[in-house]
Amino acid sequence: MLQKFNPKNEDIRVYVKDGIYHRSEAKVSVFDSVVQGGDAVWEGLRIYRDGIFMLDRHLSRLMDSAHAMAFIDIPGKAEITKKLFATLNANEMYDEVHVRLTLTRGEKITSGMDPRLNQSGPSLIILPEWKPLVYDNNSGITVITSGIRRNSPAYLDSKIHHNNLINNILAKIQANHAHADAGLMLDQNGFAAELNGSNIFTIKNGVVYTPFADACLHGITRGHVIELCGEMGLRIEEKNLSLTEIYSADEMFCTGTWGELTPVVSVDGREIMNKQDDKVLPLIQGAFTKSVKNHLTSIDKEVRL
Ligand SMILES: Cc1ncc(COP(=O)(O)O)c(C=O)c1O
Repeated sequence: MLQKFNPKNEDIRVYVKDGIYHRSEAKVSVFDSVVQGGDAVWEGLRIYRDGIFMLDRHLSRLMDSAHAMAFIDIPGKAEITKKLFATLNANEMYDEVHVRLTLTRGEKITSGMDPRLNQSGPSLIILPEWKPLVYDNNSGITVITSGIRRNSPAYLDSKIHHNNLINNILAKIQANHAHADAGLMLDQNGFAAELNGSNIFTIKNGVVYTPFADACLHGITRGHVIELCGEMGLRIEEKNLSLTEIYSADEMFCTGTWGELTPVVSVDGREIMNKQDDKVLPLIQGAFTKSVKNHLTSIDKEVRL
């Protein structure tokens, strides 16, 4: 599924570094660290009616990522929240919105890798777009296994939500060539890690499984699904999942802020076939939808920059 340009986004306003600009004027410097080396961290947020989903968890992960990358002068949660509210207010965006929140290390005094060349920053970018859920969560998506491995902590820790997305992009290119919606990335031992942009779960004989968060992003949606399964009395286990276990699952789904919970209907041409009388995923999807209102931070509509 290829997202299309949404004409509603033609005149959006974006916070970049020091102010809010029309999208045509919203730019970073060629000396910015994100241009020089993908040296930035990011979060995807979703706005439901008048509220931001799990804002505190997203900001905590952003801070942890920035700290792990040894950013200096990381803005606090209150400051980022104020700028986020101001940007949403400037666009009057209060529902069906996705925000890409990026914190770059900032501008360098000359090109190069060394963070000591950063004598100002970090730079905050708040890009809100009208974006309904990106997948059809009834019909689901198809997946192929990519030849590109997901990062292990031995190379580049997937716990840092950074902008070096090349391996995920290469996996997506492989999926595109195979006419599949997403690439399943394995860890260094050949177990499933996650899709190129979302976490995965399987369901087999009523038990819900998800890979250990060793070589995948510790997704906020993933974490919430684990909590919900616990509350629903479903058995949920983190485990190494081989491809054979994936192919023979009764149900499979992926999770992420921009798509919520999406069924995976086939992997490498193997249909994910439910051998049970009932489906479990619709129950988890229902619990997720019901829970959203309990995890929203209200947007203060008075805040301006
Ligand atoms: C590689 C990857 N996995 C999983 C996710 C889903 O994470 P979350 O549920 O926090 O949106 C994302 C989202 O950015 C991602 O980039």
